Amino acid sequence: MTFYQGQSLADAVREATAVLADAGVPTPRVDAELLAEHLLGVGLGRLRAMLLGDAPAPAGYEELVQERAGRVPLQHITGVAYFRYLELRVGPGVFIPRPETESVVQLVIDHVAGISNPKVVDLGTGSGAIAGSIAHEVPGAEVHAVEFSTFAHAWAAKNLEPLGVILVQGDLRDALPEHNGTFDVVVSNPPYIPAEAIPTEPEVALHDPPEALYGGGADGMELPTAAAASAARLLKPGGYFVMEHAEVQAGWISGMLQRTGRWIDVTTHFDLNGKERATSAVLASTAPDE
Ligand SMILES: C[S@@+](CC[C@H](N)C(=O)[O-])C[C@H]1O[C@@H](n2cnc3c(N)ncnc32)[C@H](O)[C@@H]1O
Repeated sequence: MTFYQGQSLADAVREATAVLADAGVPTPRVDAELLAEHLLGVGLGRLRAMLLGDAPAPAGYEELVQERAGRVPLQHITGVAYFRYLELRVGPGVFIPRPETESVVQLVIDHVAGISNPKVVDLGTGSGAIAGSIAHEVPGAEVHAVEFSTFAHAWAAKNLEPLGVILVQGDLRDALPEHNGTFDVVVSNPPYIPAEAIPTEPEVALHDPPEALYGGGADGMELPTAAAASAARLLKPGGYFVMEHAEVQAGWISGMLQRTGRWIDVTTHFDLNGKERATSAVLASTAPDE
């Protein structure tokens, strides 16, 4: 790619689109525009207007396009991930929140609609996408978040402190023992990828932290199983647990929850693409041996 000094914005974006398409970026035109928007500090409407005129390409555009062509995630370059109503700060060391997780947040928001001042915890909060959205969208909610990774915890702190979320650095397996039996909702998007299922997209394989991806064990189910056990520990009787997972894991997760004898109303939920990407359950009032 050889952008020249004084090249028009329209030509630069067209050329960048071709470069990104050659590099295998799935949405080359959108990414070319978003990088230009980022550098120019304008929104899409203004950018489109500038593309119709004779505005010059911004300084530094070629460098950012080259970075994206190297399959560095767009959000790492711009430093921002959009999730529901939030603009989250992200970068190396933290999982980029995904659109399907927005549906998991909606399940929580729908569930707490009739509960005043619900107490909610997000296990494995990453950037804080789930916890931050609930704090932002549910007035009066007391929201806690747990994150193990030092890097992710630092990003979560930036995003969650302004929203009043109580963040702790800890292991979801034994976190918050002082809150046992007190939460209305436990929500989690834990790592769940099987050890051998290495993602093919470079943005994921090279830039999402491994501790955010692999769930442990050949089937990736160690951390999801641990999240369910912690949910049973942290929830009030009748409390609501919802967890994201891969489409192929829906049946396994329902069966795992049912076999414990701790859960009722085990339900699989679809994301906006019609995929079975989350399971919820309600903690039974009595443990099986009571
Ligand atoms: C798939 S990412 C999800 C992040 C965020 N909740 C979201 O939906 O975008 C899983 C997160 O769990 C964290 N994690 C992994 N193992 C953990 C553990 N044992 N205890 C707490 N957090 C853990 C990872 O560091 C990562 O941030």
